[in-house]
Parts: sequence; structure tokens; C-alpha cells
Amino acid sequence: MEAKITAIGTYAPEKVIDNHYFESFIETSDEWIRSRTGIIERRFSAEDEYTSDLSVAAVRDLAKRYNKDISDVDFILVATVTHDQIMPSMGTQLQYRLNIPNAAALDISAACAGFGYGITLARSLIHSGMYRKILVIGAETLTKVTDFKDRTSCILFGDGAGAILIEAAENGNIGECIAGAEGSGGQDLYLSTQATQVNGTPIKANNKIVQNGRAVFRWAVTRMSEIFEAIVEKNGLRKEDIDWFIPHSANMRIIEAICQRVGFPVEKSLESLSRYGNTSSASIPLALDEAVRAGKVKKGDKLLLLGFGGGLTYAGTVIEWGI
Ligand code: COA
Repeated sequence: MEAKITAIGTYAPEKVIDNHYFESFIETSDEWIRSRTGIIERRFSAEDEYTSDLSVAAVRDLAKRYNKDISDVDFILVATVTHDQIMPSMGTQLQYRLNIPNAAALDISAACAGFGYGITLARSLIHSGMYRKILVIGAETLTKVTDFKDRTSCILFGDGAGAILIEAAENGNIGECIAGAEGSGGQDLYLSTQATQVNGTPIKANNKIVQNGRAVFRWAVTRMSEIFEAIVEKNGLRKEDIDWFIPHSANMRIIEAICQRVGFPVEKSLESLSRYGNTSSASIPLALDEAVRAGKVKKGDKLLLLGFGGGLTYAGTVIEWGI
């Protein structure tokens, strides 16, 4: 059996925050944020709204729009770095709240590459013959772990969730996947409640995202250009065959630089960051779903998805859109 994406759904909190919001408490401007990142606005979750709530809403959106019975889902994979709590996992909470009696449930900790890892794992689980119907969710409430005193990072993050359903089918539409890790860069992007060390570097224990923006930027541009090429090659394609490139939406300049390096037209890339900021594991499904709803992504289009982020991690694949 092969793996096929049969439905997609998303959800973002109602509260829209524009760039001017930050001007009252940090030294910044709408102009700086737009030109250095491409972000125009983002969503903030309500105080009592958590990642599990966003995830449930995204899955309900998926079930409603595609008229899907999800009660026989047999695996739930939730990619997040902002669980409501460490234990019980988000997966188990969704299993209960969505009333899916016989599903295994697991959270994926691969930061902004989490959704790509989820697709990679779901495809493998279906190809193995052990599972037939899998929910993959990327969901974050990053603004709950954002350091609003750090002007270099607080302007970047937003909240949102995306979900896809992957089912066993004779003719699948998920191509060869590449997932990898470069732990040597772990200290450049972290979130910790304990004052431990990463690669010998002491880290802060403030439960806030800390990043070396320039280092992550450099790594993303150089390595993800290579991984883009590797995914194309592994799928026996040429880059001209790709209709849409959907990278993790971290920074528009990262997307432009990758496209320039690999010689791929940036107009054929899809992003969610201008409207949602960096939503980590939710950024790819948010961009994809928006393009699906707008009729931009059509049946038969080849999509190259590529997530990258803290760990450092990356994961991507090619999907032939089929719904
Ligand atoms: N408003 C105004 N000025 C700011 C600012 C803000 N919000 N944040 C930083 N600056 C200033 C810096 O202090 C610096 O000033 P200086 O030259 O006087 O020292 C200047 O702008 C340039 O800083 P720099 O860090 O070189 O900016 P940049 O162009 O690299 O952009 C990021 C910063 C964070 C937007 C960018 O590095 C980035 O997006 N990195 C990747 C982050 C990321 O994607 N992380 C998640 C990956 S999954």
C-alpha cells in the first residue's frame, strides 16, 4: 500500500497582531519588520487557548471540509514544541477529545521541521502495512514562549495549526522523503526550562525561545538549498517539474535566497509568514491550505515541501496534490 493525502484543515486564533503593536515596547518599526522578515501580521492565541485547542480546531476543519470520518484513524502524530504540558502528550489529548478510540498517539519534537517529519513517519507507517489512516498535525502557540524583551526574536513568532489526513491507497501521492539532523547547531535555537548545556554551551532556563538569528539564517540558506536539490534528485525529477515550493515560513529573505541559489522562481514558492509570522511546525500546512483554498494549488501539481529549524532539523518531500 502507498500513502495518499486525502484532506487538509487549518486553524489560527482570532486575534490579529500587526507590526505596529511592537513599537510601543521595543525599539522597532513596521518598516524594519516587513523589510527584514516579510511579516505583516501574526495571530496571538488567547490566554486560555492552547496548542491542543488549535489542533482540535484544525482537525475539525479537515473533517468538515472533506466530509471525513476520523473515528477510525489509527495513528495520530502531533508535531509541536509548545505542548500544553509534557505529559500527557498532545497526541493522547487529541485521541480523547476527537473521540478516536483505536489510535496510537505520539508527539514529534523536531521544531519547524516537525510537519515534514510527521509526513515522513506517516508515509513509512502506511508503507509498512501496519497502519492505514493517519492524522499529521503541526500546531504551535509560540507566543506563549516568546521573549517579548528580545526585539530580534519577538517580532517573528505567531500561533496556528494545520492538519492533514494520510490514508493507505493503491496510488499514493507522497514521494521519497528526506529527513535529517545537525545537532552541532543545537545551541543556535533553543527553548528550555532547565539551565543545562547544549554542545557545551550553557543555555537559559526561561522557557522562552532563544536564537542566534544570523547563524540559523546562514545555515537555512546554505543547507536547505542542498536539501532542495537532494529531494528533487531522490524523486527522479528536475526542478522544472516542481510547481510549488513550500518551505518553512521563517523569513522571506531565507525563501528568496534558497530560490536564488537553486535557480527556482520565487514566484512559485508559497509562504504563510506574511499573515501568520513564523508558526514553526504549522507554517507549511498553513501556506499549503491557503493556496488550496485560493485555487492556486491544483490537482496534479507537484509540491516540494521542506521544513527546517531547531535541533537543527530538516525534513521534506514531493507531493503530487490529489484532492
Ligand atoms: N527592529 C529593529 N531593529 C532590529 C530588530 C527589530 N525587531 N531586531 C534586530 N534589529 C537590529 C539589530 O540589533 C542590528 O542592529 P546593529 O546593526 O546596530 O547591531 C540590525 O537590526 C541587524 O541585525 P541582524 O541580526 O543582522 O538582522 P538580520 O537581518 O539578520 O535579521 C532576523 C534578524 C532574526 C530577522 C534574521 O536573522 C532571521 O530571520 N534569522 C532566522 C531566524 C529564524 O528563522 N529562526 C527560526 C528558524 S526555524
